Amino acid sequence: MRIGVFDSGLGGLTVARAIVDHLPEIDMVYFGDTARTPYGSKSRETVIRYACENTDFLIQKGAQLIVMACNTAASVATDVLRKKFDLPIFEVITPAASLVSSMKNTRRVGIIGTRATINSNVYTNKIALQRPDIQVHAIPCPLLVPLVEEGWIHKPETRMIVKKYLHPLKVRQIDTLILACTHYPILKEIIQKKMGRRVKVIDSAQAVAQQLAAYFQDMQKLPGDSGQTGSCQFYVSDITPYFEKIAQSIFKRQIPLAVD
Ligand code: DGL
Repeated sequence: MRIGVFDSGLGGLTVARAIVDHLPEIDMVYFGDTARTPYGSKSRETVIRYACENTDFLIQKGAQLIVMACNTAASVATDVLRKKFDLPIFEVITPAASLVSSMKNTRRVGIIGTRATINSNVYTNKIALQRPDIQVHAIPCPLLVPLVEEGWIHKPETRMIVKKYLHPLKVRQIDTLILACTHYPILKEIIQKKMGRRVKVIDSAQAVAQQLAAYFQDMQKLPGDSGQTGSCQFYVSDITPYFEKIAQSIFKRQIPLAVD
C-alpha cells in the first residue's frame, strides 16, 4: 500500500520522518505545498480548498491512504476530506489528543500551534470529550514556524521567544504539553528545557506515526510487501535551493524534491 502525506510545506517532513522511522518498509509519496505556505494564517475555506487539492494530487500519484501532516489543515478540513474521498484519512490531532486523554495523571494540558489550529479549538474539544476533568490552555505561537524555517534553532533569540510563549503555561503549572504544529518537534529540546523535566511533551508527529503502525498491525497488513525499505517520493508546489536546504535539515537526509 502506498500512503500519501501532505503538509502546507516542508514542516510535515517531521511527520514523514516519524512514519518512516516506525514503518521503514512504507511506500510513501509526500506533497509539500511550498507555493502556498503558510496555512496557519489563512481562512478556513482556503485551507479546506487546499487540503482537497492536495489529496487529489496524492491520489493521482497512487496514494491509497492519506495522512494530513499539517495540524492547521487537520483542524479545519478533516470532516470535509472524509466525506469527499473514499479512502482512509489519518490526521495528526486525534492520536495526540487521545494519547493525552489516556494518561491517568494528566490534569492540566497546554497546547501550542498556529493561530488557525488554536482558534479551531479542535484539540480542546477532543480532549474535553474524552476527559472533561482535564483543564486545557491553548496558545498560538506564530513566530515559531519562521524561526525553524530560518534554521534559528539554537539562537538565543529563539530561546527568548519560546520562553515568552511558554510563560503563561508555566504559570498555570501544566503537566503535559502538546506540540500541535509540524515545526515544533524541531524545537522539542528547547521547549522541554523551558518547561522543565516534570512536564511531558507530546509530539503529534510521533503520535500519528504510532497510530499508523498500529493500524497496519491490526489489519495484519504490512505497508510494503517485500520487507525491504520502502520507496519515498517528495513533491512540492514550488522549489528553490532554500526549500531543498530546509527539507534536508528537517528530514535529516538529503532528499530530491520534485515539482509536478
Ligand atoms: N504545517 C503547519 C501546521 O502544522 C505549520 C505551517 C503553516 O502555518 O503552514 O500547523
